[in-house]
Amino acid sequence: MTIASALTIVCVLTLSYLDFSVRSDWWQHQSRYQSRLQENSAHLARNISAEIHEIEVNHPPGKDRCMSCHAGILDPSMEEASHPLKTHPQDILKNHPVSAFGCTICHDGRGPATDILAHGKDGFPTPMLQGPLVQSNCYRCHQDLDDVDVPQLAKGRKLVIENGCLGCHKIEGRGAPMGPDLARLGYARTTRGPAGSRKKKVLALYDGNPFLGYIHQAISNPAQVMRSSIMPHFDFRDDQLRNMVIYLNSLQSARQENDSTLLTGASSNQRKPRLSLGLEAAPTRKDRGEILSAVFCVACHGTSTRESLPNPNSIRGKIPSLRTMADRLHLDEDTIPIAIAALEKQNDLNGVEGLSSITSFQFENVRQLILAGSIPGAAKPYGKQPPFVMPAWKEQLSHEDIASIVAYCLTQYSYDDEEWNEEEEWEEEDDDDGVDSEEN
Ligand code: HEC
Ligand code: HEC
Ligand code: HEC
Ligand code: HEC
Ligand code: HEC
Repeated sequence: MTIASALTIVCVLTLSYLDFSVRSDWWQHQSRYQSRLQENSAHLARNISAEIHEIEVNHPPGKDRCMSCHAGILDPSMEEASHPLKTHPQDILKNHPVSAFGCTICHDGRGPATDILAHGKDGFPTPMLQGPLVQSNCYRCHQDLDDVDVPQLAKGRKLVIENGCLGCHKIEGRGAPMGPDLARLGYARTTRGPAGSRKKKVLALYDGNPFLGYIHQAISNPAQVMRSSIMPHFDFRDDQLRNMVIYLNSLQSARQENDSTLLTGASSNQRKPRLSLGLEAAPTRKDRGEILSAVFCVACHGTSTRESLPNPNSIRGKIPSLRTMADRLHLDEDTIPIAIAALEKQNDLNGVEGLSSITSFQFENVRQLILAGSIPGAAKPYGKQPPFVMPAWKEQLSHEDIASIVAYCLTQYSYDDEEWNEEEEWEEEDDDDGVDSEEN
């Protein structure tokens, strides 16, 4: 035998040994499983042959081999074992039999892999989710939160609705297109992650998942993500942000529609998720208006305790407050209650006893502006266009909704508001056409 051929043999042997030890992760877990079964009780020590356990799944299509290592996942006697042999929390798998659903449908990760890369922590676009982060994937199929227990996601969805994110973002068909449509947030996935000095802390909140860290930062520190960001700064705690991230990560329109067909059998266009705003809980239109303006208007227009957003180079320098609605409608202390009472019953102020025709005319102007939107004039004509426009709401709000919002704004009337005398200005401007073309 020549030295060369001897070397070749050694090399081949070494390589095949290495190959064996790299690929046999799952094999080792399975042998550990077998010996545990033998320890536990003799009759359970069935003859399980060590093999790759794989399931063919459709959502997304492909092979799911997680059980090759997680061999005890369905075995109640493995309650005390450590991962990956430990028994799965049982109830959830009763409703979603593993043989049909696999694991990645809830946990993400790299289904076909039989080594630890299956967890996708190496930069795979959808790394494995664990703990409460799994809830993102429940929502893809179960949009009715009364059916499922997803406490963190439910809190996050509530925060998103109540903090006026829909004033600028579209989510599940609701909201305005001032910022990006968050139903497509998933597309940012492959390229982005958190940055800056908090990078490590943020990643730790998400088991190192960079994309979730990116969403966290896009909300908590928009300027970190995009230097010229116009998104307002919110003061959320980390746990609140995490809950919102769990919710926002569930919004992956294409996947969501695909998956919900599993639940209902309905095709995607039969089943359009629509965010519930909790309007059912509002007994009067005034209350309804309070909810609608919190959800859609106050992030820009402010409240009695919070300034409206600055709008550089617009004529007024900031977005106008809606607390001066009474002035716009030529109402005073005596006529405000009449108008509110009328708006509880009808959608405009026409023919209401005790109100002038100017009031009903101005109401119509306000309604048109809300339906069609408006682009503020630039203070310096050659300067930068003011960043914020008034979005068009005609696809989002009914006439009843607008009557409700106006009724609510009238209850917020403030006599000492600095904008008290802006009435004249209101009449002159806003002959602009709507901004539909821009908004759509
Ligand atoms: C090569 C073997 C192997 C494969 C394949 C594998 N896992 Fe694991 N898994 C482990 C080990 C080992 C642990 C425990 C240590 C750890 O967390 O890394 C674990 C832990 C877990 C945990 C719990 C993490 C925690 O800390 O609570 C989850 C969830 C999980 N795996 C899901 C999956 C999913 C989903 C797949 C398929 C995409 C998968 N695993 C494929 C070996 C594997
Ligand atoms: C229907 C959704 C769903 C499916 C399918 C599913 N899981 Fe889970 N899994 C969950 C939920 C929910 C939890 C609990 C998360 C938490 O800690 O709040 C969980 C927890 C786990 C844990 C950690 C358990 C613990 O005690 O800490 C592991 C490991 C795990 N799953 C692996 C798997 C594997 C492997 C499969 C496929 C055989 C699978 N899961 C299929 C939803 C699912
Ligand atoms: C791929 C879609 C899909 C995913 C992801 C999913 N489920 Fe389900 N879920 C189903 C289907 C399908 C059923 C069975 C519905 C039926 O029989 O009417 C179901 C049933 C249930 C039930 C029983 C409800 C009932 O009315 O009987 C619960 C609870 C549940 N799922 C919770 C969860 C949780 C929690 C998660 C996330 C960890 C989750 N599901 C993820 C599709 C899904
Ligand atoms: C006044 C308008 C406005 C409000 C209110 C607003 N945003 Fe934004 N948001 C934007 C704009 C505009 C962008 C695009 C980039 C930029 O200018 O920062 C953006 C970007 C984002 C991004 C990054 C999207 C991507 O594709 O990279 C996320 C995530 C986000 N916003 C979440 C939220 C959440 C959650 C809320 C509510 C707490 C919210 N936004 C409230 C205007 C707003
Ligand atoms: C993205 C920020 C933004 C959101 C969200 C928003 N607006 Fe506006 N709104 C504006 C801007 C900017 C103007 C000024 C337009 C102009 O000057 O032409 C304006 C003007 C108005 C005006 C005219 C006020 C005046 O004094 O000229 C009314 C009424 C109004 N908005 C109502 C609403 C209502 C009702 C909602 C919620 C359904 C809403 N807006 C949501 C930005 C916003």
